[in-house]
Amino acid sequence: MDHISEAALKRYRDRVEAVLNGLLPPAGESPGELHSAMRYATLDGGKRLRACLVYGTGEAMGAPLDALDAPAAAVELIHAYSLIHDDLPCMDDDDFRRGKPSCHKAFGEAMALLAGDALQTAAFATLAGAANLGAQTRVDMVAALARASGAYGMVGGQVLDLMAGLDASLDELEIRHRRKTGALIHAAVRLGSLAAQADVPAALDDYGMALGLAFQIADDLLDVEGEAVVVGKTVGADAAAGKATFPSLLGISGARQLAQNLYQQCLTSLQFLGDDGRFLAVIAHRAVERDH
Ligand code: IPE
Ligand code: IPE
Ligand code: MG
Ligand code: MG
Ligand code: MG
Repeated sequence: MDHISEAALKRYRDRVEAVLNGLLPPAGESPGELHSAMRYATLDGGKRLRACLVYGTGEAMGAPLDALDAPAAAVELIHAYSLIHDDLPCMDDDDFRRGKPSCHKAFGEAMALLAGDALQTAAFATLAGAANLGAQTRVDMVAALARASGAYGMVGGQVLDLMAGLDASLDELEIRHRRKTGALIHAAVRLGSLAAQADVPAALDDYGMALGLAFQIADDLLDVEGEAVVVGKTVGADAAAGKATFPSLLGISGARQLAQNLYQQCLTSLQFLGDDGRFLAVIAHRAVERDH
């Protein structure tokens, strides 16, 4: 990866970390156990792909950096909540996340559930209270994030995932992945564009949707081929749960090929941005060619 994109990734990651650190309730404030669980599950971990998408899209579309802090943090808060709940025994029952014990392993199930709830409301409070954004922009962002997170997006996709068996069709699997993972990634791109006060260009929507699906295909591949210490979570979980995935339906090379095709779609969609789309192209490359 080129030095400019590497530097931008680090700058965006450091920036959202500082924003999240500042907005999460202090561990020393009561109820400290809840606040500690929220901080544990949100800070010091994760690739921050979604925040980088907000910053990268926003800057490409001409938004000032400080207009992107609230949406970048909000989408990471929703993501962190979704991961806590995804790992609970009633869902995927995974003990490791981001290289450390899952939130419910560290804090117990009740606290993990409530930390997830509080992170979700913190996301919307962050957007609603972003004084440097216009009122209409905030409403549009809340609506976009809510839709992507709820029954029509991530939560609906998680339900399809819970019901999934080994015998899914490719179409069913694609719908499940687009909802459980693609919707929030797509929303991150939209939020960046909204911060630039732009009507979201159709090509950016296409980029966000192709990237979201490609990202979950790569996640499925890591569950088959990845190394737990590098991935930072238990591998082999999908097969153990008996869930159809892209590698289970298409084979490893078929799933890789599909991810590559989606990457090419991302590049085509970014053409309208010219050189300004370079960072978003690098993100798409990393989404499909990653080891964690
Ligand atoms: C993991 O997302 C869950 C999926 C939606 C595939 P990430 O791979 O982005 O997780 P972190 O934030 O880097 O830990
Ligand atoms: C998670 O999908 C999607 C979410 C909405 C959190 P997975 O269940 O495949 O994610 P990992 O592999 O546990 O990170
Ligand atoms: Mg899951
Ligand atoms: Mg999981
Ligand atoms: Mg997975």
